[in-house]
Amino acid sequence: PSVLVLNGPNLNLLGTRQPHIYGAETLQDVEARCRNAADALGLSLEFRQSNAEHQLIDWIQASRTTADGIVINPAAYTHTSVAIADALSAVEKPVIEVHISNIHRREAFRHHSYVSNVAEAVICGCGTEGYELALRRMATLLAKAR
Ligand code: DQA
Repeated sequence: PSVLVLNGPNLNLLGTRQPHIYGAETLQDVEARCRNAADALGLSLEFRQSNAEHQLIDWIQASRTTADGIVINPAAYTHTSVAIADALSAVEKPVIEVHISNIHRREAFRHHSYVSNVAEAVICGCGTEGYELALRRMATLLAKAR
């Protein structure tokens, strides 16, 4: 099975961006973590980041034919983007939403997610380990779907 891992705006700055909130790992470190986890779980992995909403939507749409599931950290688009939520529902594949920080312990505007009601699961507050947890769960979901 193949999984698309998508990262939204400003996650390219991981490691230098508010490390007290998001940790010291870079996005490259997170990708390496995901590759290790995917290898161990027998998943093939595509890992991408964009600051642009339309780019994320194009990748989600294209995944209809290229991926069995999507792990997404929509970053700030979590709280603003009906368009990303609509794209995720249109692909009809399992979606797992990841946030590095615990969005519920932060500002009120981060408490609502447009993505959560199209997601099988939401992982937040587990740091970058959340991506590995999401891949593990995705492997379980995809094994059941076979
Ligand atoms: C985030 C949380 C969002 O509220 C924020 O806009 C981000 C990162 C997280 O991973 O904790 O950019 O999705």
